[in-house]
Amino acid sequence: MKRLAVLTSGGDAPGMNAAIRSVVRSGLESGFEVFGVHHGYEGLMDGDFEQLDDRDVSGIIQLGGTMLGSARAPEFKTEQGQLQALERLRVYRFDGLIVIGGNGSQTGANALSQRGFPVVGVASTIDNDLYGSEVTIGVDTALNIALEAIDRLKVTAASHHRAFLVEVMGRDCGYLALMSGLAGGAEAVVVPEYDTDPDAVAAELIAAYNRGKSHGLIVVAEGAKYNAAVLAEHFKEHQDRFGFEVRATTLGHVQRGGAPGAFDRLLASRLGAAAVSQLDKGNHGVLMGLIDGKIVPTPLNEVATSKKPLDPQLIELARVLAR
Ligand code: ADP
Ligand code: F6P
Repeated sequence: MKRLAVLTSGGDAPGMNAAIRSVVRSGLESGFEVFGVHHGYEGLMDGDFEQLDDRDVSGIIQLGGTMLGSARAPEFKTEQGQLQALERLRVYRFDGLIVIGGNGSQTGANALSQRGFPVVGVASTIDNDLYGSEVTIGVDTALNIALEAIDRLKVTAASHHRAFLVEVMGRDCGYLALMSGLAGGAEAVVVPEYDTDPDAVAAELIAAYNRGKSHGLIVVAEGAKYNAAVLAEHFKEHQDRFGFEVRATTLGHVQRGGAPGAFDRLLASRLGAAAVSQLDKGNHGVLMGLIDGKIVPTPLNEVATSKKPLDPQLIELARVLAR
């Protein structure tokens, strides 16, 4: 019988469990024996496998996190780590591996694929920085969590005529900041992709107050040159000159821990099943992602070497709508 292994890697994302469930049940349906790998590439190097049946993935579609566990596994970046993982895959007679994860994880998947092992990726990270999928599993839920916080902060900001800086995750990508800023009606967004300085950010806030706003809310990406703490410090130092009071809130891992919403559960269910189908057809070395509303494969070597840019039209839209 054919055997496939599935792992989750990198930062966990709401919807990873739904993707595992989909891989397990689609895999069994296609005649595979399915094994979960604990703790990402760490477990792959250690041979930490568990056979999974239909009932082992019951009751997880609605849960955040990942039942398999995830890890940052620096050793897997080395040749020795990858050869060790390949040896485990050979000893356990696996015919294929499905990697559910983000940028780094799919770079690792590409490394295994380049070494000749059949791998298919499933696009999953809250950062949405992965080439080959317009939206990745976890983004929608993380955005909604950030939005709930932004909506609440605006209430207290308006009561006190204060400025608020909300820092969101995204590593070196500004997608979460831009989209939560747009959806939350922020006065400005600060993203790593565009250079700015604290005085320019302050000028945006002053302009917002001058336009009659009761508050100013700025969404800052954690990867921006000046993060929320640095900006807040600068604004405090120059409070007399700027004329507004500021508070900073860093959302951090709260954004990653939520229960997946409908969008992420559905995307994960579709991507997981599509990954199994690709492996079954022998079409490996690809990432399954969502492009133009369709689930499509993109070669892993393209995924590992390309960057997904922020849409400049959305940056402009955020500026216009903050009038
Ligand atoms: P994400 O997949 O969410 O972007 P990371 O960047 O932390 O998260 O990557 C997850 C894991 O993928 C790393 O801990 C490492 O094991 C593996 N990985 C990352 N980059 C590479 C690389 N260049 N080559 C091989 N494996 C990698
Ligand atoms: O990649 C997901 C992510 O949450 C990034 O947004 C963030 O920079 C990073 O992981 C945090 O990593 P850790 O959970 O290891 O602190």
